Amino acid sequence: MNAAAEAKNGARNAYVRSAFIFLFNYLVFVALCALFTWLNAVALGEGHSLAGYVRENFTSVAALLCSLFVLCVIVWFYYFFERRQKLLEAKSVWLIFILLETGLVVCYFFGYFFNIYSRPVAMLALLALMLLGRRDAIFLNVIFALLLYSCDYFTNFTELNQYAAAMVSTPLIVFSAGMVAVFVGSKVKTRLRSLLTGFAICLPIVILIACLEYSRGQGIWYLLLYGLEAGIVSAVLFMALLPMFESVFNCVTDYRLRELSDHDAPLIRELKEKAPGTFNHSIVVAHLSEACAIALGENAALARAAAYYHDVGKLRQPEYFAENQAGYNPHNELSPELSVDIIRSHAKDGSELIRSKHLPKVLADVAIQHHGTLPIKFFYAKALKMTDGEVDIEDFSYPGPKPQTKIAAIVMIADASEAISRTLPDRTPEKVENAVREIIEERMDLDQFTECDVTMRDLSTIKEAIVSCLTGVYHSRVQYPKLTLKRKDEKQHE
Ligand SMILES: [Fe+2]
Ligand SMILES: [Fe+2]
Repeated sequence: MNAAAEAKNGARNAYVRSAFIFLFNYLVFVALCALFTWLNAVALGEGHSLAGYVRENFTSVAALLCSLFVLCVIVWFYYFFERRQKLLEAKSVWLIFILLETGLVVCYFFGYFFNIYSRPVAMLALLALMLLGRRDAIFLNVIFALLLYSCDYFTNFTELNQYAAAMVSTPLIVFSAGMVAVFVGSKVKTRLRSLLTGFAICLPIVILIACLEYSRGQGIWYLLLYGLEAGIVSAVLFMALLPMFESVFNCVTDYRLRELSDHDAPLIRELKEKAPGTFNHSIVVAHLSEACAIALGENAALARAAAYYHDVGKLRQPEYFAENQAGYNPHNELSPELSVDIIRSHAKDGSELIRSKHLPKVLADVAIQHHGTLPIKFFYAKALKMTDGEVDIEDFSYPGPKPQTKIAAIVMIADASEAISRTLPDRTPEKVENAVREIIEERMDLDQFTECDVTMRDLSTIKEAIVSCLTGVYHSRVQYPKLTLKRKDEKQHE
């Protein structure tokens, strides 16, 4: 079987597997609704068994089963037509359903024990926004509004509430609070801002409660307080549950990327202690990569973290890399073939090290792709000199793969730009620009960007961002006069 047929077969198996996960989770929804129905019947003082309830309310139960099935099918079709890649990863499919089920259970019990208006209805939208992205968060918020409404309506939950407007409130409140959460939450970078998002979420909830329950007169005030609590609890639960989802599903969120980029993160600390030269190189590459990502509208936190981890493979033998050598170069005693083996293995070693520490796969991918299939010119030239030109360049090149994403391409260019800028005797903006242009042109000539979606315009933006940063890093200073400083009672002299 050839590679294309194998890939097609693998994808078909993944779709079938995802369909089974959907079916299983449909049954989980049914089980949850059975539990809610029983709890509601107990609270309403209707002592009959679940089987008795099903016999008496057959049409209602059938409608609930159909609604849940239709919603599950819509979710599957959305991902099949819009985000097919997600269906290929079982982990992502589980994440989608566990988010919906968590939202359903949390909202049900808040409504059961407190009040229907106290439910943290925007929690799911905030979690989905961070874990799956904005588009999925908007879609899942709509599904969640319909799911919660179906549960409320068909499990007799609305009968438990003495509010006339409770039945219509669910889809309206869930939808509007979730949408505000998605739009305001997209800009959230700190935990304090997450809490402030909670206050923004309160607004649509409180306005809707005021509109739906205005006829209650004085009694509306405590309902408005429940609305206020719903927004804030949505944000608090989001902050509490996010780290759990991040670690269980190994998700890449801005919060996690910032923690991974911290100088006290285990691998970064190890790099700082065992390979200080590589650590300092990575700091500048991270600075350059972040600037490029911002200029291109890409994920800046991801670019920075990927740059911090791109060379962690050098931890295996740090002394064999120029930036960590203090005078003695062990390559002087090795053949060019052996030296190349050591140098090029750092890309693969880095990727394996990142995976072994259960860090996000995207960081491992950038680590293995950041040199693409480029030749290691220094040792290739050394080998040419020693063998009168009988050397295969492939034996002196990185094995790849080439950069597969814009972020990997950014790190590749930033990495080489930082390295070359250290060798420039003259770091005027013109010289730096020429050096960075040469780096980009060389990689284009060697087809390093053929497997990612980087455009000529992107490359021009990357070049400008890197030149601007590097000239900032290596800016010139006025020459300080040589002064021998003396104590106050002695005369200063040049
Ligand atoms: Fe490297
Ligand atoms: Fe590097």
